[in-house]
Formats: sequence, structure tokens, C-alpha cells
Amino acid sequence: METLDQVRTVLVVDDNKVFLEDFASLMSPSFNVLTAQTEREAFDLLNNRKVDVMLLDLVLAEGESGMEVLRKVKEMMPDFPVIMLTAHASVESAVQAMRLGAYHYITKSPKKEELRTLVEKALAERELKRDYELLREEVQRVSGTIVGESPVIHQVFESIQRVAMTDVTVLITGASGTGKELVARAIHAGSKRRQRVFVAVNCASLVKELIESELFGHQKGSFTGASQTKLGKFELAEGGTIFLDEIAELDVHLQVKLLRVLQEREIDRIGGATPISVDVRVLAATNRDLSAMVERGDFRQDLFYRLNVYPISLPPLREHKEDIPPLVEHFLQRYGKELSKVDMKISPLTLEYLMQYDWPGNVRELENVLQRAMLLSTGDTIHPDQLPKEIVEERKAVHSPQPLHELEKEARDSAARIAIFHALDKTGWSIKESATLLGIPEKTLYDKCSRLGIKLKAKPR
Ligand SMILES: Nc1ncnc2c1ncn2[C@@H]1O[C@H](COP(=O)(O)OP(=O)(O)OP(=O)(O)O)[C@@H](O)[C@H]1O
Ligand SMILES: [Mg+2]
Repeated sequence: METLDQVRTVLVVDDNKVFLEDFASLMSPSFNVLTAQTEREAFDLLNNRKVDVMLLDLVLAEGESGMEVLRKVKEMMPDFPVIMLTAHASVESAVQAMRLGAYHYITKSPKKEELRTLVEKALAERELKRDYELLREEVQRVSGTIVGESPVIHQVFESIQRVAMTDVTVLITGASGTGKELVARAIHAGSKRRQRVFVAVNCASLVKELIESELFGHQKGSFTGASQTKLGKFELAEGGTIFLDEIAELDVHLQVKLLRVLQEREIDRIGGATPISVDVRVLAATNRDLSAMVERGDFRQDLFYRLNVYPISLPPLREHKEDIPPLVEHFLQRYGKELSKVDMKISPLTLEYLMQYDWPGNVRELENVLQRAMLLSTGDTIHPDQLPKEIVEERKAVHSPQPLHELEKEARDSAARIAIFHALDKTGWSIKESATLLGIPEKTLYDKCSRLGIKLKAKPR
């Protein structure tokens, strides 16, 4: 339903009074129609009223040129849609009008309906473009909270941007702590539904007997203890987005019900007499391999297809370690504010330990480690003794058989790096003293640093 402020305004500029009146009656009441016969009248209205689209005759009163007006309007507002009208179309003027940025060029004599359709089309396109631009900005703003510069994270950003504006169901997969919920929230925030609710449901944390009622609600008296009618999460999410976390844990009986919601966009409250239609976008997440579960018969294939319309998979942190420094920076700033410890830094050696560690708990683990270290540290720099033992003691985990000489070289390099950082930290980054501590000539220290990618010029952070 259109409300008053949604009625759009058309300005029509022509010297022909009869046409102006005809046009006004054709367009009302769906549109507000303003009319002008001269350039001055037209600009008076453009400057003082909110006009959405303009129809402009090629020839105005007192021999003024519509083309000239078009040029000025486009200079002022390049995106503003102007439809050029003419009594007798000529190829040259059509070409000129389009070149000046007219939305369309049409002869005004024949079907008025055509004109009306054209106006509606111009407006719809413009609104679409505006919505799109707003959404794009919003996605960028929200995605800004997703930190990462690595190619894999860039791909994730791109996927979010591509899919946010649609209503498509998204299945987000990734190990624990990789940011699945963060991505779901970014998708919602970048969607047309962003002003409406985002409802997150953890399918694993709900007591099995209660999940159905949690998701779909129940009618008063439908079972013992149902003393009130209760709305389920789907109804609560009306108009917005529902995030079904740990979807793999949903039992088979409920998988069928969810499939029905995705197919019919309808839910049944427990004990309800009639289905209730819902307008909800579904996002789902899991850290399990759903397709393997489908093969084993633990997850319905039809539901899997319905959920997996657009998959986004998040990599484990150990596969994009180059994002660790920016993530560290991000969390230092974020918790710096919360813990009133602004301008916290991390020593290069500490960062080195973080870079070496394998991060089974992914970004969430990194976040927790930093939070803890910030709490423990008394100065303004985080040192290795504020890291959990397993990180400082970690030797490169071996995930698959690997030539021994490679492994030994990596271990040697990593031990050398740690020793060098220790020495540099201790001596305030004096090369001379560090070399003495390490028992090697300065030149060797330089060479080792350059081979190990330690930048000596860089001041400790
Ligand atoms: N790329 C990232 N940039 C900034 N913060 C991140 C990023 N990825 C994850 N986080 C943060 O890490 C924490 C864990 O993320 P989130 O809860 O989204 O993970 P998850 O995949 O849902 O984990 P789980 O499977 O354990 O539920 C959150 O505090 C989140 O803000
Ligand atoms: Mg989660």
C-alpha cells in the first residue's frame, strides 16, 4: 500500500496547456503532477519541491529550447531521470538528447498509457539504484567488522556482498570460531531486512523436546504445560532474518518441518489448526560436513539442497595466518576500550609465537588469548609470558607425513627466530649486543634476519 509520502512527483514542462492538463489527469492520483511552461518556472519548482522525475518538451514557450534545459538539469543532478518529449521525433534530436543523459526520448502524440509506463519504469530503476547503493555502503560498513586482508577473506567479503541484497538461503560452513555468526550478521545487515530483526537460534543448545515449539511455537493447551500460546522463532523473525546455527544437530523429524518452511514459507504451530505464512530469510551454519552426513543418511538430502543454495565456507585461521597481525590489532583496539587499556602493543616475539601457533579454536581462540593477555599485562606491551603455555610451547604440529629435512629446517628456523627476537627484545634492538648474546658475528645476525624475514629497521612495536 502506498502511503502519502510515497506518492511521487512528476514535473512536466511544456508550452502546450492542453497537453499539460491531459497529462495531469492521466497521472493522478497515483502521482503528484507539477507543470511548468518555461525554463524559469521549471527551475523554480526543481529548486523548491521534491521532484522525482521530469518530462520535458523539446520546444518550450517563447521559443526556449528543451535541450538546453536538459543540459542544465543534468549538470545539476546527473542521476535525475528526464524523459524528453517531442511532437515530431527526429533522429538527430533523439541522439542529442540521449547523449546529454536523457532517460528516454518519446513522441508525445500517441498512447498516453505508454508514457505512464515509461515514467513508472524510470522511477523504479532509479529507486532500485539508490537502494542498491545504500545496501552496498551498509554491507561495506558491517563487513568492516570482519577483519582480514588475505585472498580467502576477500572471497568471503565478495560472497557476502553478492548475496546480502538477495533473499537467498545461505549455508555458512567452517570450523568452530571461524566467524560464521559474524558473517550471518553481516549478511543481514547488508540486506533489505536490516531494519528488521535478526533472530539467532542454536539448534544444538535447545532441549530436543522443546525445539519444535521454540522454532514454530505452540497453541495454548496443545500439550501439558502449554498454558499460553507461544510464538516460535520463525514468527518472531517475521520480516527479518533467522539464523539457524549448528543446523546439523536438528533431528530428522524437524528436518522435515524445516524443509516445509523453506518450500512453502509456512509454519505450523504445535496444535495449530491452520498454517501461518511467514516472510523470513533463512541463514544456516554448521561446523560439520553436511554433505558427508547426507551420504551417511544422517541429514536429509532435499533439505541440504534447499539450505545450500549459496554456500559460504570459512577457512581455519591456520590457513590465513597473514590475517593474524590485523586481527591482533583489531582486538587490541576493541578490548583496549573495554578494559581501559588503550594503546596496548604486542612485542614482536609475542606476535611471532602467535604466528607459529596452529589455532585449533580459530579466531575465537585468538580473541580469548588476547583478552587474557591484556588483563594479565601490567605495562602497555604484551609479552610472551602472558600467553598460554600451549602457545609458547607449541612446536609446529605435523598434520601429514612430510620430508624430515623440511620439518627439521622449519623447526630450526622457528627456534632461531624466537632466539633472535628474545635477544632483540632484551637489548632494545641493538644489533651489536644481540649478536654478542647470540654468540654470532653481527654480519651473521644480519644475514639470518634477512633470510628469516625479520626486519631490523622496524622499531619494536
Ligand atoms: N574475520 C574476523 N574479524 C574479526 N572478528 C572475527 C573474525 N572472525 C571471527 N571473529 C570473532 O571471533 C569470534 C568467533 O566468531 P563467531 O562466533 O562468528 O564464530 P563461529 O564460527 O560462529 O563459531 P562457533 O562455531 O564456535 O559458534 C567472535 O567474537 C567474532 O567477532
Ligand atoms: Mg557460532
